[in-house]
Amino acid sequence: MVSDKEKIVIGSDHGAWDLKETIKADLLSKAYQVEDYSKPTPEPVDYPQIGEKVARAVSDGSVKRGILMCGTGIGMSLVANKFPGVRAALCHDEFTARMSREHNDANVLVLGGRVLDKDLAKDIVKIWLETAFAGERHARRVAMIEEIEKANLKA
Ligand code: RB5
Repeated sequence: MVSDKEKIVIGSDHGAWDLKETIKADLLSKAYQVEDYSKPTPEPVDYPQIGEKVARAVSDGSVKRGILMCGTGIGMSLVANKFPGVRAALCHDEFTARMSREHNDANVLVLGGRVLDKDLAKDIVKIWLETAFAGERHARRVAMIEEIEKANLKA
């Protein structure tokens, strides 16, 4: 039987290992399936290797949404936003999480394991997953991002 729980792909490097484990457990306790592309241990790993896998899954449509984590969240954001169709948003609080969905239709959430308290990170993930895109004028702006992407990013 195929589960009707939404699948979320996640991934972290060593800089956010503990946070990743916390977020993964929290998602699994809720209505989500999780596919974790992190290495199986918290040993050092180059974040682009992990970010690439998660971003590719969102970019090719295998999954709708992904969550990436590294020390600051910056490296993973840079990697993910190289992929066509990926709109990765580095969020530090509930406000940026909500805005990244309502205004930017972000499909990858990025978190900094050395930046965020774990309870705040869980709140950010919850808001991000539950907030809908507001459309209207924001849809026009997201379409403009897609045009820029088509003109400048090779598929
Ligand atoms: C790893 O030390 C660290 O550079 C990485 O987790 C991330 O913060 C990069 O942007």
